[in-house]
Amino acid sequence: MRLVRAHAYTHGMAEIAVDGLTKRFGTVVAVDHVTAAISWGELFAIVGPTGCGKTTFLRLIAGLIHPDSGEIRFDDEVVNRLSPAERRVRMVFQDFALYPHLKVFDARRYSNLGFPLKLRRMPAPRVKELVESITRRLRIGHNLFARRPGELSAGQKQKVAVGRALALPPRVLLMDEPLANLDPQSRLAARAEVKRLHNELGVTTIYVTHDLGEAFSLADRIAVMRDGQFVQIAAPRELQRNPANEFVAEFIRSFQELNRGLLEDR
Ligand SMILES: Nc1ncnc2c1ncn2[C@@H]1O[C@H](COP(=O)(O)OP(=O)(O)O)[C@@H](O)[C@H]1O
Ligand SMILES: [Mg+2]
Repeated sequence: MRLVRAHAYTHGMAEIAVDGLTKRFGTVVAVDHVTAAISWGELFAIVGPTGCGKTTFLRLIAGLIHPDSGEIRFDDEVVNRLSPAERRVRMVFQDFALYPHLKVFDARRYSNLGFPLKLRRMPAPRVKELVESITRRLRIGHNLFARRPGELSAGQKQKVAVGRALALPPRVLLMDEPLANLDPQSRLAARAEVKRLHNELGVTTIYVTHDLGEAFSLADRIAVMRDGQFVQIAAPRELQRNPANEFVAEFIRSFQELNRGLLEDR
C-alpha cells in the first residue's frame, strides 16, 4: 500500500515492507514466506492462535532475530542487517521486561524510563525533558518515580513499559500482547490509552494480540496469522463481513461466541 510520500518526512515514520520473510526453528517454520506492507502511522494488528508465529514476526521486524530468507525494508531501505537501535524500533513485551532493581525514573542514574536515553549518553536535563513529556501524556504521576517495578500494579508497569518505548519517539513501535497481563478492567482502560496515544503520536505500530476484540477496537488493519502465514489482511469491518476462508470465519465466530457466552452467563 502506498500513501503520499511527504507524510513520511513530516512525521519521520516508516513504511514497513516485508518480502518472502521466513524464519525456521529446526523443522518448525515459525514465519513462512510472509509478504506484506504496513503504512506510515498505521496501527496494524496481528491476531492468531498461540504458536502461529506472531512473536517471531515482531522479533524479526525488531532485529532481535534474523530471517533465514526474505527482506525487511523501512522506507525502501533494506534493514535486515541493522541492529534494533539502528532501526529505531522499540518493543513493548507482554511481561513488560522492566529492570527490577531500577527506579521508575531518576534523572541522574539509570532508571526504567530513562534507560534508552541514558544509554545514548543524553545529558540529564534532556533526559528529564523527554521523560516528563511522555509521563505527562501517559499520566504517570511523579509519586511513582521513586518506586521499583515490584512496587507497581500491573497497569502501572504497563504504562512504564510503554513510556520507556516512547520516551525517544521510535520509527516503529512493536507491541507483543501488551495488555495480556492486566486484569479485565485495567485492560479496557489501557486499550483506550493505547488508542489515544496512537492518535496523538501517530507512530507506526504493529500490535500483536490473541484477543480479536482488542484488534477490532484498535486496528486500522488486521492480519490473521496461521502456521507462520498471513491468511488475510483486512480492515476490521471487512474482516467481519468477508472472511477469506473457513479458518478466519471460525476464528471470528469463536470470538463472538465467547463474548456472547460471557453475557449470557450473567
Ligand atoms: N527460540 C525458539 N526456538 C525454537 N522454537 C521457537 C522459538 N521461538 C518460537 N519457536 C516456535 O515457533 C513457533 C511460533 O512461535 P511464536 O512466534 O512464539 O508464536 P506466537 O507468538 O504466535 O504464540 C512455535 O511453534 C514456537 O514453538
Ligand atoms: Mg507470542
